[in-house]
Formats: sequence, structure tokens, C-alpha cells
Amino acid sequence: MQKTILITGSTDGIGKLTATKLASDGHAVYLHGRSPEKLTATISEIKKVSKNEIIDGFVADLSDQDAVEKMTEQINMDLPQIDVLINNAGIFKSPASHNGKGLDIRFAVNYLAPFLLTKNLIPLIKKGTDPRIINLSSAAQSSVSGDALCSAVNLSDQEAYAQSKLALTMWSFHLAEILPNIAVIAVNPGSLLNTKMVAQAYGRSWASADKGADILYDLAVLEDYKGITGRYFDNDQGHFAQAHPDAYSEIKIDQLIRITRNLI
Ligand SMILES: NC(=O)c1ccc[n+]([C@@H]2O[C@H](COP(=O)([O-])OP(=O)(O)OC[C@H]3O[C@@H](n4cnc5c(N)ncnc54)[C@H](OP(=O)(O)O)[C@@H]3O)[C@@H](O)[C@H]2O)c1
Repeated sequence: MQKTILITGSTDGIGKLTATKLASDGHAVYLHGRSPEKLTATISEIKKVSKNEIIDGFVADLSDQDAVEKMTEQINMDLPQIDVLINNAGIFKSPASHNGKGLDIRFAVNYLAPFLLTKNLIPLIKKGTDPRIINLSSAAQSSVSGDALCSAVNLSDQEAYAQSKLALTMWSFHLAEILPNIAVIAVNPGSLLNTKMVAQAYGRSWASADKGADILYDLAVLEDYKGITGRYFDNDQGHFAQAHPDAYSEIKIDQLIRITRNLI
């Protein structure tokens, strides 16, 4: 069955590979990027490789909440439904460590943007068939500091990244609780996969980016994963696993969601 799939950060890395795989199966794939030129080039490339013309895309710099709002307005006007949303875009190192509102760029792009984008797209996802939300977590997960999230204290790149990924995982579990008819999975696609982000952060890799694209593809469309929700898939282990203990603390999740609602 043809699905309508939106993948953020699909102009490079794991997101682009996943989009290409899904497009090759004939799904309607909507890409997202921050550069209009790179997005247009990626759409053309994927159309050619996949021989699928139902590929389009949306532009927004996810570090800018106003841009996220504007993009989701556009998506709500253009798409009748979303069957699968993959919140894939992510950042580790960046020339600017904070966005225009003074928030750490890792929290802004890796956590607050998917939170806001998903909130605005829930009505479309509710119209989807076997709807699924897949959030890109990481093996790097560290207890979230409310002060750091609000930018009252500064963190190292690694610590900001790890806190943003645990925040995303905690919110994924929360979303699964409040949206029983939508499957929500947080996934570590595999550690040190060969992408631009990893090259910039660590200067070395352990495995091909295809490893990440393969698991995103499976979680997005395979019947095996239908209806599985509120779980963390660890692709370093190749199965569902335990996330950081904070992801199972109702109190910590409530605190996080309260702070987040104030920030967006
Ligand atoms: N690679 C790994 O080993 C690994 C491990 C664990 C988790 N992950 C997660 O997997 C996801 C994909 O990462 P990747 O390794 O494929 O990285 P990547 O190759 O650097 O791709 C990241 C994507 O996110 C986009 N992006 C970054 N900042 C953005 C912003 N401000 N606004 C809009 N889009 C933005 C990038 O756009 P441009 O094309 O314009 O740069 C690109 O399309 C991330 O969430 C990452 O944290 C990766």
C-alpha cells in the first residue's frame, strides 16, 4: 500500500538514504531541508534514482520556531494526511551554539523543533492509515537539565546533544501515552554511522549510514512493527531495549513537558 511519508532532515545522511529507499518502493515521500537549493537538488536526485515522481519537499531552518510554524502551516495546506512522520533532522556541532532566541541549538533542532512540528501535524497524522511517528534518538542520552534547556547554563556539544536526545526519547514515550491510536517509537539508528554529522563530531565512523536507513525503513513500513508504541529501539543491539532510566520517570517527563510548553 502506498504511504504518505514525511522525513525531516532528508537532504543528507540517514534521512536522505531512507527517503530514497521508501521512494523506490513507490511511496509518496515528502522531504525536508533547511536550504532550498539543496532540497530541490535532493528531490530531483531521488526522483531520478527511484523512478518515482511523487516526491516533494518543504523548507525550514529547524533552529527557528517561527520557520517551523510556517512550514507546518504549509504542510497542513498541501497534504491530506501523513501515514509516517520521521523526525530525523539533527545537529551535533554547529558554528552557532545558540539560536536567535538564545536556546542551545541542539535542544532547538533535536528536541523543540520535532515537538512543535509534531504537535502541529497531529491532525494530519490522525488521518493516516496505521500512523507511525519515528523519532531519532541516540545511544548518547543524558539527564536533562531544565536550566540548560532554558539556556540558563551552557553545555558542551556532547552534553547538549545527549540531553536533547534523552528529552526527545522522554517526549516520545509521553506522546505514545496521550495518542493511543498513533504508534510512536524512539530509535537509536546505530552509533557512529558514516554521515556528515559524525564526521564533524568524531572524525571517524564505525558503520555505514545504510544501517540507520535500513532500520528507519523497517520501522516506517514493515507489518512486524505495526502497533508497537512507546518503545525504544536500539539498533546497536538490533532490538527494542531500555532507554535511559529518566525516560520511565513520570515525574521527570511531566517536568520536561511543562518546561517545553513554556518554551514553544
Ligand atoms: N550518524 C549516526 O551515527 C547517528 C547516531 C545516532 C543518532 N543519529 C541521529 O540521526 C539523525 C540523522 O543524522 P545523520 O547522521 O544522518 O546527520 P547528517 O548527515 O548531518 O544529516 C542531518 C540532517 O539534518 C538536517 N539539519 C541539521 N540542522 C538543521 C536545521 N537547523 N534545520 C533543518 N535541518 C537541519 C541536515 O540538513 P543539511 O543537509 O542542510 O545539513 C541534514 O539533512 C540525527 O537526528 C542524528 O542525531 C545519528
